[in-house]
Amino acid sequence: MIALGCDHGGWELKEAVKKYLDEKGIQYEDFGCFNTESVDYPVYGKKVAEAIVEKKAEKGLLFCGTGLGMMLCANKYPGVRAICASDIFSVEFSRMHNNANVLTLGGRVMGPGLAIKLVDTFIHTEFEGGRHAKRVEMYDKII
Ligand code: RB5
Repeated sequence: MIALGCDHGGWELKEAVKKYLDEKGIQYEDFGCFNTESVDYPVYGKKVAEAIVEKKAEKGLLFCGTGLGMMLCANKYPGVRAICASDIFSVEFSRMHNNANVLTLGGRVMGPGLAIKLVDTFIHTEFEGGRHAKRVEMYDKII
């Protein structure tokens, strides 16, 4: 299951990504927000991060204006490895080498076309393990 969350700055992009997930039959839970009324992004970043920590979700997608506030919030939670990226190469390697489990995107940075490509790459790229597993373990121990 993929946990979704956004603030008002990311709501529209989240809706576009939800449409893609629906079309592909990919399961998700939407933790809000549910419209463009101004809200505080840490509230929704926390909900998605907690879903990852509690193992209710394998991955998370967070959307705000820049993607940055959500990334900062999510990374406060041990076990969450959130990246904010707007290129395919970074997203691909964040999965292969860093075992990233949360992707944060900026609704004021990109349109749905790029966002969906990034999400698709994030969801379908596997962690390589091997020498990277030790490094991720080391990273996860830093609190
Ligand atoms: C809200 O205006 C904006 O600050 C928020 O969406 C996000 O970009 C924060 O990082």
